[in-house]
Formats: sequence, structure tokens, C-alpha cells
Amino acid sequence: MMTEIPAVRGFVRMCTDGWEQGWHERNGGNLTYRMKPEEVEQCRPFFTAPREWNSMGVQADNLKGEYFITTGSGKFLRNVQDDPEHNIGIVEINDAGDSWRIVWGLENGARPTSEFPSHFMNHSVRKAATNGAYRVIYHAHTPNLIAMTYIMPLTARDFTRALWQSATECPVVFPGGVGVVPWMVPGGADIAMATSELMKKYDAAVWAHHGLFVSGPDYDITFGLMHTIEKAAQIYMLAITAGGGKIRQTITDDNLRAIAKEFGVELNEEFLN
Ligand code: 13P
Ligand code: ZN
Repeated sequence: MMTEIPAVRGFVRMCTDGWEQGWHERNGGNLTYRMKPEEVEQCRPFFTAPREWNSMGVQADNLKGEYFITTGSGKFLRNVQDDPEHNIGIVEINDAGDSWRIVWGLENGARPTSEFPSHFMNHSVRKAATNGAYRVIYHAHTPNLIAMTYIMPLTARDFTRALWQSATECPVVFPGGVGVVPWMVPGGADIAMATSELMKKYDAAVWAHHGLFVSGPDYDITFGLMHTIEKAAQIYMLAITAGGGKIRQTITDDNLRAIAKEFGVELNEEFLN
């Protein structure tokens, strides 16, 4: 069975995990995974007759001929586990690197997530930046981080510092910091280009008043990054609310440098005083 193949099983589990965290109301959020060649071969016996090509409005040379597992547009991540064939699918990218076609799943006329252009461009830049190591792009509607985008200046510096200071593990988990995309219409090529521009530098990009995009080499690390950032945002919001808008003390820049030294990570110096 398709769902016994580890790449597919891990994908389905991540959808369920995100649902259980409360990050995927209705059809909110989406997930894509760039398959390894051997995983494509494991899945190939289950492929259906390929359907028509669909142009994406974005293009990437380094993703020509790749295969992605993707959630469907308008599909509820809550339902993925019970009915993968209708809620997720596998798409193949054409030789020009600008179109997809469904080779498995997304039954009954479903299509890949409306954020596929953003996922695709993020895959392209993260693949290039990590020598092919990064394979997962994940978008979720994380409530505490979204709340932060109403009360904090929409800069990478403000968000990174607030998140780093909100839990001691944060600078170790995302030493590069997070980027911030201002409010934009979701689902198209413009937000895809703006997000992937930030993904050249960061593993994570906040979408103001909308949610978060994260990237990683596998499901665990990528889910863990989403979880760590959202939990830090929760701690920040709890502290700022309980403190009546004031924070009495926090992790200092010297503390941050000490953590980085101890854990052998290089903090993005742009964000330190
Ligand atoms: P899709 O249902 O098309 O994946 O859209 C959900 C979403 O979160 C849009 O940003
Ligand atoms: Zn969204």
C-alpha cells in the first residue's frame, strides 16, 4: 500500500500532528515534500495514468523532473490520515521546471495546495542553499505567532530577537533567525517570490497576519522548527499579556552569545546588539 511507504507515512503523520496542535483549522496550512529518487521508485507501482500538465506561474531550473508529495487545495489536514487518496497527491515537475502533473492521489479533480508556487520556489532556494539536503516545506496557521504580527514591528530583527529571548533553546534551533513577509495576498507568484527571497537567508518566514513557512531536511526537523517557533511565540504572548505589555527581564545578548558558544552554533550577528 502507498501509505506503508515511509515517505508517504511520514507525510501523513505530519498532517495529523499539525492538526492535533491546532494549526490547521478547516483547510488552513499545507505541506510539500521533495521525494528522493528511490522513494519515487517505491511509489511508482502505485502511480495512476498521468494527468494534464498545469503551469505554475513560477519556474526553477533546479527542480526540473522532481517529484513532490503535496496536500490538496481546499483539503482539511484533519482528513489526510483517513483518506489520503483524496486529500494529498504526488506531482511530477516537467522538463522546463514550470508545470506540474498529478501522478497519484488528489482524486476527483483535486489540485495541489494553492500555495504550491510558494512551496516550489522555497524548495528551489533551500535545495540550492543546502546542497540538496532540504526536502520539506511546511506552512501552518500558528495562532500565537500570528498574534505577534499585530503588536510587533514587521521586521526580521524584531521577530528574531523576541523569539530567541522567549526560550533558551530557540537560538540553538534557529540560529539564523526568521524572516518576515509583510501582509500580501496569499496563493500566487508574488508572495512566492517574496517568501523565497527570504528563504535564501532563513529557514523560516513569517507571513504577517497569516502564519509561518518553515523548511528542513526531513519531517522531524521541519515539524520541530514550526513547533519551537510557535511555542516561543506562545511564551512571548503569555509574558507580554501577563506583564501588562511590559517584560521585566529577558535573555540578554551576552546570554545568547554564551548559548551559541556552548552549543557550537553561529548566531546571525545582524540581530545582536
Ligand atoms: P490550500 O487549501 O490551498 O492549501 O490553502 C490553505 C492556506 O493556508 C492558504 O494560505
Ligand atoms: Zn495559509
